[in-house]
Amino acid sequence: MSVHKDAKRITTQVVYEMKQNGEKISMLTAYDYTMAKIVDQAGIDIILVGDSASNVMAGHETTLPITLNQMIYHAQAVVRAAKRALVVVDLPFGTYQGNSKEALNSAIRIMKESGAHAVKLEGGREIRESIERILSAGIPVMGHLGLTPQSIYKFGTYTVRAKEEVEAQVLREDAKMLSDIGCFSVVFEKIPAQLAAEVTSSMDCPTIGIGAGADCNGQVLVLHDMLGITQEFSPRFLRRYSNLGEQMLGAIKNYVQDVRASDFPSKDEQY
Ligand code: KIV
Repeated sequence: MSVHKDAKRITTQVVYEMKQNGEKISMLTAYDYTMAKIVDQAGIDIILVGDSASNVMAGHETTLPITLNQMIYHAQAVVRAAKRALVVVDLPFGTYQGNSKEALNSAIRIMKESGAHAVKLEGGREIRESIERILSAGIPVMGHLGLTPQSIYKFGTYTVRAKEEVEAQVLREDAKMLSDIGCFSVVFEKIPAQLAAEVTSSMDCPTIGIGAGADCNGQVLVLHDMLGITQEFSPRFLRRYSNLGEQMLGAIKNYVQDVRASDFPSKDEQY
């Protein structure tokens, strides 16, 4: 019996059971209605309204500038499209760190105003109080460890995290804590595959990897990267499933040419 095939709607319980049943979890980002509709129709398990919208949608260099209102706007559009997938929304930078009451208010706004099903927060022990407060309000939480892009100015680079034993041990402890306090899943971003495998097998809740090897319980990619719409970003972990960026460029160039040559519209394309 397959847990996800039998599910009409993917819930956090389904995601949790998929791990117990040895079924891999698929997750992709989406930030708008049209893309989310295609992703949902393709049978994805989780749609992440990631704060990578800050880069992909708004053209910022980092994820830091995106606001709570902007995340809610993106989430509302995605929720309208998702008929089957679980919709998880990132709490943006500055809306949950250091103040668990503010964290809860941010999570409540996302749930109430967008209709999303869960929130994701970056970090471990330093945000434990915020996560516990959100969980206590009945809001499901996805954790995020390893390379946490909201801390890019602390790390200085986007290179692999937890290669050294000290950082690996902190990650082991944080992952266990997130699982123990009740997160329904945890993202591992850019950590050694062997560490991800070891920690995944020791945790009750599922792990979802991006640049964290094949032994996580699921995988996530940024939609525009895997479709080849964004082209400047080419890390080793990124498999491109299409070359849409080039195809779009070609199609738009053809349109421009046709307009300039008065070849569009034709007699059949007018009233
Ligand atoms: O914002 C995002 O897209 C993410 C994924 C890379 C996991 O957090």
